[in-house]
Amino acid sequence: MTVSIALKPVLERISAEIDRQFDLLLETPADPRRRLYEAMRHATIGGGKRLRPLLVCASCDLFNVDHDAALRVATAIECIHVYSLIHDDLPCMDDDDLRRGKPTVHKAFDEAIAVLAGDSLHALAFEVLADEATHSDPFVRVELCVELARASGPAGMAGGQMMDLAAEQERFDLPTVTRLQALKTGALIGFCLEAGAIMGRVPPEGRTPLRGYARDLGLAFQIADDLLDVEGDSNAVGKATGKDAAAGKATFVSLLGVDRARRQAEMLIEQSVDHLQGFGAEADLLRAIARFVIERDR
Ligand code: IPE
Ligand code: IPE
Ligand code: MG
Ligand code: MG
Ligand code: MG
Repeated sequence: MTVSIALKPVLERISAEIDRQFDLLLETPADPRRRLYEAMRHATIGGGKRLRPLLVCASCDLFNVDHDAALRVATAIECIHVYSLIHDDLPCMDDDDLRRGKPTVHKAFDEAIAVLAGDSLHALAFEVLADEATHSDPFVRVELCVELARASGPAGMAGGQMMDLAAEQERFDLPTVTRLQALKTGALIGFCLEAGAIMGRVPPEGRTPLRGYARDLGLAFQIADDLLDVEGDSNAVGKATGKDAAAGKATFVSLLGVDRARRQAEMLIEQSVDHLQGFGAEADLLRAIARFVIERDR
């Protein structure tokens, strides 16, 4: 596997583009809603790896989708992701003080504002997708909305979060943890890849390789997150570490141990790249992202 793309400048570019989108979308009004907008800006601007936006753009690039349109979908998925992080950090969930190297929203503002900021980003995602500027064909826009709704709700991220809470109480086996991770993290990552195919009007039967890539990448991504929780440096990661073990949570790392979990992640990454065999150099960015997912330190 020879991939020559340097990811750093690509990540910097998408980060700047996403910051700009949120800056335009979230102009702070001079009325009592001001704190809500400030909280949304705090959570969305200037932080995070922007992995999901990059995946959307990389998938859209495969099918020559217009970059500005791809950026709208990228912004929508980042809205959902950031909403999930704000709520994940709340005292009733993981009770975290640090996110992306900054105080969490409920710490910098308060819990009620954090709930509302999450709610508002959830809504904003669908507003952005449904806008005509995202795609001229309303059927494409509806498909994007349906797929994002599925990936976010009880059959996707929120359902995975429910299983994750249960993983503190019950002893989950490996297949159950795999399903938990596929929902909690995998579903939103799956949407990112699917979005390119939807925007490019690729029929469902042509989407199998991207779905395979997304499934393996999503699992490897979450194993890497769990490894960072055990081995990472909180300053580099930008969030507290050691939380999963302290909560007695079943993860790949608690079930397999650090070494086997890392080998499993590496195997999944190789497998994810194998799904792209039918693509040429146009998929090199996706191949580079796969390596980044397990080599990252944050
Ligand atoms: C963290 O996601 C939450 C998980 C789903 C594991 P990221 O590691 O992508 O977080 P940011 O966007 O870079 O902050
Ligand atoms: C949260 O998983 C994933 C979602 C927000 C859907 P984690 O609880 O492991 O994420 P971190 O470690 O706080 O980023
Ligand atoms: Mg959590
Ligand atoms: Mg958490
Ligand atoms: Mg984690």
